[in-house]
Amino acid sequence: MDERSTVNAEQYAVTPHPSPASAEQRATLMAAPIFGEVFTDHVARATWTPDAGWADRRIEPFADLTLHPGATVLHYGQQVFEGLKAYRWADGTVRLFRPEANAARMAASATRLSLPALPEDDFLASISALVSVDRDWVPSEGEASLYLRPLIIGTEASLAVRPSRRVEYMLLACPVGSYFSGGVKPVSIWVAQGFHRAGAGGTGQAKTAGNYAASMQPQQQAQDHGCDQVLFLDAREDRYIEELGGMNVFAVRRDGSVWTPRVTGTILEGVTRASVIELLRSSGREVVERDISLAELRAGIDDGSVVEAFACGTAAVITPIARLVAPDFDVIVGDGGPGALTAWLRETLTDVQYGRAEDRFGWMRQVL
Ligand code: COI
Repeated sequence: MDERSTVNAEQYAVTPHPSPASAEQRATLMAAPIFGEVFTDHVARATWTPDAGWADRRIEPFADLTLHPGATVLHYGQQVFEGLKAYRWADGTVRLFRPEANAARMAASATRLSLPALPEDDFLASISALVSVDRDWVPSEGEASLYLRPLIIGTEASLAVRPSRRVEYMLLACPVGSYFSGGVKPVSIWVAQGFHRAGAGGTGQAKTAGNYAASMQPQQQAQDHGCDQVLFLDAREDRYIEELGGMNVFAVRRDGSVWTPRVTGTILEGVTRASVIELLRSSGREVVERDISLAELRAGIDDGSVVEAFACGTAAVITPIARLVAPDFDVIVGDGGPGALTAWLRETLTDVQYGRAEDRFGWMRQVL
């Protein structure tokens, strides 16, 4: 057995916050948190060096970082991250949704960015350790959860363009409600003009900061046109739909089949995307993963053969898409409201996540 495969939560040495939020402060902060703007009292960390590998595992009070201004992450963007959630069930236990999938994806992203991968057991141990210390921050109201944000950054002070020889893993946690400020309401989508998210052989499949940095200008373009999210087309032909700024996309057809762009190396393989496909297939639906051109999608919306569309991701869960907008068209999907299948998927998925339905796929992992 690999010696690193024995890492458990006890190996994260805890330094308690000297002045954690009081119960009253926490209740105020958790009442209606804006996504990603409220952080718990602690952070999990580990440090990697070529000699020691991953070491110095610790839970520290949440605080600003001390970072050398020459740190590689600040200059060449050596960074990868993940997003997953911890849910409090009615019986008081706290569960994670498919954390092994996030661990595997972060390892793959790390390899693409020439960062050391954090082994799965270390990833899971850091989550157990942090959620245990910050257990009071796991919401128990409605469809709120504790969003977990693991990240790995290059911290070596060097302006040389080569993999960092000092690397930091951090895990932050944020109590969250809905990702979109309007709550679970249908969103409008703008088709990016003159921008692409990823090209063949690039970093599109990796969850790395640069992809999101590059999405902000097109996202602004979307907002300037009154839309909530941007939709990217493929870089080679500017023709096929790929994904939104931070979530995958699906279309539901009148014949009952569900279509989503196939994974080609330029889109992020969402854990929610994979789960939606499993839920649909296990309920007897046909799911088609293939190239979908914008023209085909638009024609389907126009002639009624596409009856619903939705976005999905850890943060967005499942969010109905009401409108698709580009300079030469502005079309409403279905009747503009959440479609029946979209609503069923959202309910079915969240019922498993919150323990209201049987976990038929063995997706949930208890942490507390
Ligand atoms: C997530 O859904 O967890 C994401 O990472 C998307 C976005 C918030 C960056």
